[in-house]
Amino acid sequence: MYTQSMDIPDAAEKGPPESASAASELANAFEARIDADGRIEPQDWMPDNYRQTLVRQISQHAHSEIVGMLPEGNWISRAPSLKRKAILIAKVQDEAGHGLYLYSAAETLGTSREQMLEGLHSGRAKYSSIFNYPTLTWADVGVIGWLVDGAAIMNQVPLCRCSYGPYARAMVRVCKEESFHQRQGYEALLVMMKGTDEQRAMVQDATNRYWWKCLAMFGPPAADSPHSALAMRWGIKRISNDELRQKFVDATVPQAKVLGVTLPDPDLKWNEARQHYDYGEIDWQEFWTTVAGNGPCNKERLATRVKAHSDGQWVRDAAMAYARKYRERTITEAV
Ligand code: 3HC
Repeated sequence: MYTQSMDIPDAAEKGPPESASAASELANAFEARIDADGRIEPQDWMPDNYRQTLVRQISQHAHSEIVGMLPEGNWISRAPSLKRKAILIAKVQDEAGHGLYLYSAAETLGTSREQMLEGLHSGRAKYSSIFNYPTLTWADVGVIGWLVDGAAIMNQVPLCRCSYGPYARAMVRVCKEESFHQRQGYEALLVMMKGTDEQRAMVQDATNRYWWKCLAMFGPPAADSPHSALAMRWGIKRISNDELRQKFVDATVPQAKVLGVTLPDPDLKWNEARQHYDYGEIDWQEFWTTVAGNGPCNKERLATRVKAHSDGQWVRDAAMAYARKYRERTITEAV
């Protein structure tokens, strides 16, 4: 899908445009394409900060998919039935795939996967705050599907219309798979809610613990979101953090009613004038503490991720050795 990345010179190789007028022509062509809601492709000229904004967002997104495998991966060996185990394995594998599409999309911007992984493993790069909370019971797996993947879809569907072609195309498949993730979580919870009082209490408890974290997942409100204005001007982001959060609340309240759980917010009520649900204050202090690396599971997640990477070194070495031998054999046979 992203093999075009092999053909594009990186930014340094391309060098600056030869004259000031050539540079302004390129900038004008870029702006005109953005204004016409067109797509920017890897071969096209783009301003440095458009490229940097994309690398930052896409690599953070890729890291979120990969780290997001960990809280649910913890439950694969403890899934309550063969059917639930098969579904969970498939879902966790999908997240790995999403990470790979996204790393590939970021590579088309001239950033290597090694650089991005180094950023993650050294703790410099961010990934979604939501994956720094523990998964205490099986109901958490269902609630992650319902609420976390539900929030992810709300945020990611508009990214299918992102102005950068490879990111937008990757998101189409990601969103289809996220839909399955959301549904499997909701269905698992519906089954639990028809079970025992203890199961219903588990679902309510998991909902209580995850609800506010999912609202924060959409990112800070406009005043504290330094990247939003430009990202929206460039068609990278299409809808603001706050608007997406509101859409998520509006879509989720009726789902909670069908499920039979209470969303843990006394201020949650329909506002006839706004035609939206009002909701209470998000604890942004807690969010920023987690984003800064001091949430309940940040250190554990990073340590698990780094260990998985170093334990997998022999697989990468073996794949490279095989590719080298295959290439050498093909060349020998050809001469
Ligand atoms: N967790 C961690 N950091 C967050 C965050 C969150 N939930 N929300 C915002 N931030 C960070 C930003 O990365 C930025 O940090 P930086 O300057 O160091 O890069 C800072 O807070 C300010 O936020 P902004 O709103 O200005 O940043 P953005 O314009 O990038 O908006 C975003 C944040 C809405 C998360 C946007 O980057 C985005 O839409 N990203 C793509 C989607 C994504 O990454 N989703 C993550 C979840 S993926 C997932 O859940 C996997 C699925 O399988 C469940």
